[in-house]
This record gives sequence, C-alpha cells and structure tokens, in this order.
Amino acid sequence: MRISNRFITIEGIDGCGKSTQAEMLSDWLSLRFGKNKVVKTYEPGGSGNEIRNILLNSSMSERSELLLFLADRMEHVQNIILPALCENKWVICERYIDSTIVYQSFGRGIPACEIERLFAWCEFPVPQLTIYLDVPVDVAVSRVDSRGNKDRIESVGIEFIRKIYSAYKQLSIDRKRIVRVDASLDIHKVADSVRNVLEERFELKS
Ligand code: TYD
Repeated sequence: MRISNRFITIEGIDGCGKSTQAEMLSDWLSLRFGKNKVVKTYEPGGSGNEIRNILLNSSMSERSELLLFLADRMEHVQNIILPALCENKWVICERYIDSTIVYQSFGRGIPACEIERLFAWCEFPVPQLTIYLDVPVDVAVSRVDSRGNKDRIESVGIEFIRKIYSAYKQLSIDRKRIVRVDASLDIHKVADSVRNVLEERFELKS
C-alpha cells in the first residue's frame, strides 16, 4: 500500500488562527487539485466527539490525559488520515503529534522520550510539513478571551500558555519538518506565507 506524503499539520498556541488558516489553505488546494482531493481535519475529535468532550471538560491525571489524546489520534489516523493519504489526497490537520509534545511534555511534565515511544508504538504517520503559526501570547490570549467559552485547557492561565509558546518556538527550531510563519499579520498575508511554504516544499510553482 502506497501512502502519499501530502500530510500537512498546523500548530500553534490557542488563538493563533489555526482554523482560519487551515480553511484558507484547504480552499486554495481544492481550487488547484479539486475539492475531492483535500481533507481538512483536526484534533482532538477529528473522527468523533466522545473522547474530545471528556478531554476538554473533565479533570484527570496527566497520564490519563495523554492516553486519551493518543486514543483519539489512533481512531483519527485509522479512520480519516490514512484512508485519505492512501487515496493520494492532501490532508490538512489542525493539531497533531507536536501538540502532544508541547502540551503533555513541556506543559504537563511527561518526558518527551516516553511520549515519542508511544507515538512509535501507535505507528502514527509523520507529517511531511508542519506549519507553526507564531503569534505573541498577549494577542492569542485576547483572541481566546473574546471567544468567551474557555475550555478546561484554555482556563489554565497565562503562565501555562507562555510555557506552551516557548515550547513551540523551541520545537520549530529543533525540527526541520516544522516551518514557523509569523501569524500576527493580517490573515491574508499569513495565508500567502503559508502558500509560499507549500509551493516551496512541494515544488508546486508552475
Ligand atoms: P480546541 O478547542 O480544539 O482548541 P484550539 O482551537 O486551540 O485547537 O482544544 C484543543 C486543546 O487540546 C488545546 O488546548 C490543546 C490541547 N491538546 C493537547 O493538550 N494535546 C494534544 O495532543 C492535542 C491534539 C491537543
């Protein structure tokens, strides 16, 4: 079975504009390759809301939280991501393995090597490209606040969010797969930057 490498993830702190950019990117790819060649999805909950609801609304130990994120991902990979990649589709996913490293390791303190071992055991496919949307913490926090309805993780406070911000920054330096995009600009400018990264990485310029 051949699996395509058109797997792109979008990462960043809460309020960085992932959903908007994922939408704009998948619209652009759909225009170019056809709507049926693009799958836009997200975590947690991309293949069902049961585990997502528990994760965002109940309190639990760090390890239970990690295992639930992984269970959610396993279903998502098996039911949505792998079938789409096998059909040579583009997959645009908001949050994926880097969210787990950032939130559960840097954020909650579980050693990254233990999490990486679990990723390997789960045989999660590694994205070809990860776009990291970098916005300053204060901008992201005011966006999240203006949405009103904070979930459990968003309610943990500014210090936690700062920790997450630094973790993303570090990860984007350490891993070549991750490309940092300045997401504090106007959304259309950010979308242009994201497209430029894709055109370069996937040699799409005609
Ligand atoms: P969500 O409402 O989807 O927020 P956002 O719009 O910012 O993506 O909530 C997802 C939350 O789950 C977010 O705070 C990050 C967290 N998360 C983890 O802690 N670990 C993970 O592996 C994933 C995928 C998400």
